[in-house]
Amino acid sequence: MAGVTLNGVRKIYHEGVEQVAVHDVTLDVRDGEFVVLVGPSGCGKSTTLRMIAGLESITAGTVKIGDRVVNDVPPKARDIAMVFQNYALYPHMTVRENLGFALKLRNMSAAEITARVQAAAATLGLTEYLDRKPRQLSGGQRQRVALGRAIVRQPQVFLFDEPLSNLDAQMRVSMRREIARLHQELKVTMIYVTHDQVEAMTLGDRIVVMSKGHVMQIDTPLNLYERPRNKFVAGFIGNPAMNFVNGTIESGNPSRFVADGGEWKIDLPESVASRLTDAHGRTITLGVRPEDVTVVPDARSAPATTPARLDLVESLGNETFIYARAGRYDMTARVSPQSLPPVGSAIVLAFNLERAHFFDGGTGERVAGSGTA
Ligand SMILES: Nc1ncnc2c1ncn2[C@@H]1O[C@H](COP(=O)(O)OP(=O)(O)OP(=O)(O)O)[C@@H](O)[C@H]1O
Ligand SMILES: [Mg+2]
Repeated sequence: MAGVTLNGVRKIYHEGVEQVAVHDVTLDVRDGEFVVLVGPSGCGKSTTLRMIAGLESITAGTVKIGDRVVNDVPPKARDIAMVFQNYALYPHMTVRENLGFALKLRNMSAAEITARVQAAAATLGLTEYLDRKPRQLSGGQRQRVALGRAIVRQPQVFLFDEPLSNLDAQMRVSMRREIARLHQELKVTMIYVTHDQVEAMTLGDRIVVMSKGHVMQIDTPLNLYERPRNKFVAGFIGNPAMNFVNGTIESGNPSRFVADGGEWKIDLPESVASRLTDAHGRTITLGVRPEDVTVVPDARSAPATTPARLDLVESLGNETFIYARAGRYDMTARVSPQSLPPVGSAIVLAFNLERAHFFDGGTGERVAGSGTA
């Protein structure tokens, strides 16, 4: 087993125009850890993974697997196994033959191949399908065969690039559990690329959030949610997304948050204002998660409120999403099921500012003292 260390890893593509796809990524994946790379399309996740795999040359920096720098080591000699979104099983081979094929190419003994194939099939619940051809399997079963082909190789590191995105929603959930269980069972280092934040949050011991080739934050799922380092991470992690309002903090007794345009002025609780001494007088962005917004009867019902117009209600049964317009800002609230006035009505929104986040209005970096937990 081995960890994976990236030090100042960079990738520049030179096709037509020069493009920096990955800027100086430094990341220490511990032996046995499950690390997820997440971010919007084009942020450099796959390129980073492919440099670890050896499928893409490294423009600058070093990649280590265990204690060995692998920059110039060919993919086959890196002791890794990769599972892609578009896995191609051999259609004319049975599941058994698909699983054993890579081992056969390495001249492994028939007895060893049989043992490894049976063990992987048992782990993945494929034992009863070993004699079937891929076309006789469901999408999820085929994806498990693709996983099995990686498992039989007993690599030091597993690399996954969006392995579940071709599956339907239900199958994705069950395969996600399967991969989590696999990690618990094999205790082997896994690096997993996805643009799906739910996959990232549920699978990762730690998550690397990327944007435009840069690492934004590397942290545990809970820390990313509770203490996002900047506005990008705050807006990317969490669904529905965090509400943002630009404004300034005016010192006083009490101190107040004044939204741009002056449409809202809300008093800050002393416990919040005293932690935010850095932010007073500065342009900032207030961030409030939808679960920290509620609908109240009137402005006297809660300390921090704003009038709003109800735009849309989505009832999901166990919870309700409320979309409302407050001044120039669209706000989302996530509340328990409740009766609401008709769409278009005036309502009053209340914010739990104890749990609010504050970001620098210019750089988007979190303001010292801001955040929950
Ligand atoms: N072979 C290539 N030549 C030139 N540019 C490339 C090449 N491959 C990728 N890129 C560019 O590098 C950037 C990062 O691409 P990458 O595939 O790593 O993104 P990604 O985060 O995996 O996105 P997605 O979620 O869409 O898969 C993109 O802007 C992409 O256009
Ligand atoms: Mg990709």
